[in-house]
Amino acid sequence: MRIDILTVLPDLLTSWFGDSIIERARTKGLVQIEVHDLRKWSSDKHRRVDDYPFGGGAGMVMQVEPIHKAIESLKSERAYEEVIYLSPDGAMLDQSLANQLSTNKNMILLCGHYKGIDERVREHLITREVSIGNYVLTGGELAAAVLSDAVIRLLPGVIGDETSALSDSFQDGLVAPPDYTRPAEYMGWKVPDILLSGHQARIDAWRSQQALERTRERRPGLLGPADEGEVG
Ligand code: ADE
Repeated sequence: MRIDILTVLPDLLTSWFGDSIIERARTKGLVQIEVHDLRKWSSDKHRRVDDYPFGGGAGMVMQVEPIHKAIESLKSERAYEEVIYLSPDGAMLDQSLANQLSTNKNMILLCGHYKGIDERVREHLITREVSIGNYVLTGGELAAAVLSDAVIRLLPGVIGDETSALSDSFQDGLVAPPDYTRPAEYMGWKVPDILLSGHQARIDAWRSQQALERTRERRPGLLGPADEGEVG
């Protein structure tokens, strides 16, 4: 997978993607992430990419021209399945959207800034808008990092244990069951006996039961209407 990110704050993202699991995935060639400074496509002598809104009002608006040029320049190199604008108005990112996006080969992520973006970008250049939550961030960079992270970790080979991404919270519509590691007892706080029993089938059943109970307690909305409210 290749992800091209268009931003006015490239340094923010370069450092984020330069570490940990994502960096290892890049080194292994499982994902290519290219962060581009939108100002590169500015025709302004001060490299501005924003301007005052027509009709007046507070705040600056990101201009269509540099964004169009940036997207066209990338598209001239390869085909993209998605050009995603990160915006609080977009469809909410959830596990199912992350799964869907993880099947793409090439994606462009556009980070907004200032007051907003020239509407013609939305009308003509974007395939979808994605939000990471019902709150407004200062820019789309954190949202682009969140989306990329959620998608990249699903790519085969990125997470050491191939099964672990599949047993995540939300992957089966449930939150994850509790995990423990050594020591089996700490300050009198004990690991449930079942996990030390060696009976894999019973352990699996216990984990499924825990996942269901936790989902009912913590995130009943994830369960179908029939299950909702049937706690215990
Ligand atoms: N840009 C600003 N706020 C955002 C949000 N909540 N999600 C995605 N992009 C954003």
